[in-house]
Amino acid sequence: MRILHVASEAYPFMKTGGLADVCASLPRAQARLGHDVRVLIPAYRAATAKLRAPKTIADVQLSGLPGDVRVLETGMQDSTSKVWLVDYGPAFDRDGNPYLDDTGIAWRDNAERFLLLCRTAVSIVHEPALFGWRPDVVHCHDWQAGMVAPLIDDDQDIVKIFTVHNLSYQGIFPRATFTSLGLNEELWAMDGIEYLDQMSFIKGGIVFSDWITTVSPTYAREIQTSELGCGLEGLLQHRSDRLMGILNGIDYDEWDPNTDPHIDYHYTADTLHGKLRNKVACMERWSLHRSDNAPLFGFVGRLVEQKGIDLLIAALPELLAHGFPFVVLGTGDPELERKLQAIGRAHPERIHVRIGYDEKMSHQIEAAADIFVMPSRFEPCGLNQMYSMHYGTVPVVSQTGGLTDTVVPAAPQTLADKTATGFSFTELTAEGLGAAIRQSVELFDNKERWGAIMRTGMTRDFSWRRSALAYLDLYQAD
Ligand code: ADP
Ligand code: GLC
Repeated sequence: MRILHVASEAYPFMKTGGLADVCASLPRAQARLGHDVRVLIPAYRAATAKLRAPKTIADVQLSGLPGDVRVLETGMQDSTSKVWLVDYGPAFDRDGNPYLDDTGIAWRDNAERFLLLCRTAVSIVHEPALFGWRPDVVHCHDWQAGMVAPLIDDDQDIVKIFTVHNLSYQGIFPRATFTSLGLNEELWAMDGIEYLDQMSFIKGGIVFSDWITTVSPTYAREIQTSELGCGLEGLLQHRSDRLMGILNGIDYDEWDPNTDPHIDYHYTADTLHGKLRNKVACMERWSLHRSDNAPLFGFVGRLVEQKGIDLLIAALPELLAHGFPFVVLGTGDPELERKLQAIGRAHPERIHVRIGYDEKMSHQIEAAADIFVMPSRFEPCGLNQMYSMHYGTVPVVSQTGGLTDTVVPAAPQTLADKTATGFSFTELTAEGLGAAIRQSVELFDNKERWGAIMRTGMTRDFSWRRSALAYLDLYQAD
């Protein structure tokens, strides 16, 4: 099959979160299964800087746009799949975050920028001769690619898939933007892209695609409820026969403690002393005070409400009072950044707080930490808990979305039959998180049981193959 993925991020060209990981590793897994895969993303300045000898695939004229849109091609590492980049300077040739300006406010022209991405994808479908290639399937990810499906002509024989990675980001713009974009007035309807008198990119994907997927079975159920449906639960219930959850995998080419180029010492489930050496090296690097037998806690992620950072901040004093070292890496909400930095300054030997995006350090944390904390308020899938389990770093998670689907919580039965891979809590409060952390610390002292939890997590199969096959089945379903 010829498969075109359309997204706003793909690792290593642009990454702010898990979307980028998925939009690199799913195509790679599909290519390994023998399919012809392209990933269309914007040619952000930072992405263009990473290109070595890019090839021009086509110069596209889009009506109403001054100048051509150039589509560049580059290879994807260790894969036959290709990345196509939408090169249009006024939209994408700028520094910084793909969605936000320096002050943390959404770029004013986001609707124009991501509509441009969508229109380029549509021209690949409508004008295959220009590109020398036509997809059988167009697989769009998140709101930035939501306007692809509504703009594809009905007579096109193509499968349209839309994957929701996070329903809380919807691409909502005022009616005036809809008008200025010059879109067909017919789209301005309840069964179109109108949402509470505004324009909704994500509705385009949900209403006009053949199938809607999300990244875990539990989240597929949750988004049909008023708690986590973000106002779209009615529409999603309406489309429930076309909605399914396919769990993300992890890319063992990038995330494997036995080959990871970012970490100090390689190890496997049979050579766990290597993990301890990473802990010693990293704690020294991060100037953390080491006391024997104290577990090292870690967190990596976007510092936003979704991730339950407020719960973490509330749980920290107790942890630090017990002398448990902590390492935090993240970037996001300036207020949360400030609070974490203040705690870091107050306890420099106990907690190392790094505000910023640092790929290498994120791998080092997975390798060095004993316990990974993920108190998400909601989590469509979550990749870090899977990276953690694969690195023998036991996750403490909230019971939500993909966290529920991937972590087997420690309980008398799961400890006895050695299926436990982590700890979980249901009550989304600092007390709930605190109780799960206490449970983990108690078991940490039981070396035999702890070793079993680590090994079970490390040997579970989180590979992409299974999920890639599930998507392929869906592409072929009626
Ligand atoms: P989300 O997509 O909601 O951010 P995921 O758990 O699916 O959450 O994926 C997050 C990805 O982004 C992981 O690969 C994680 O390591 C990475 N990541 C998040 N924040 C940072 C950061 N500050 N530095 C490096 N990597 C980060
Ligand atoms: C989103 C979600 C996260 C998921 C990722 C990749 O950013 O927040 O849970 O793992 O997409 O699908």
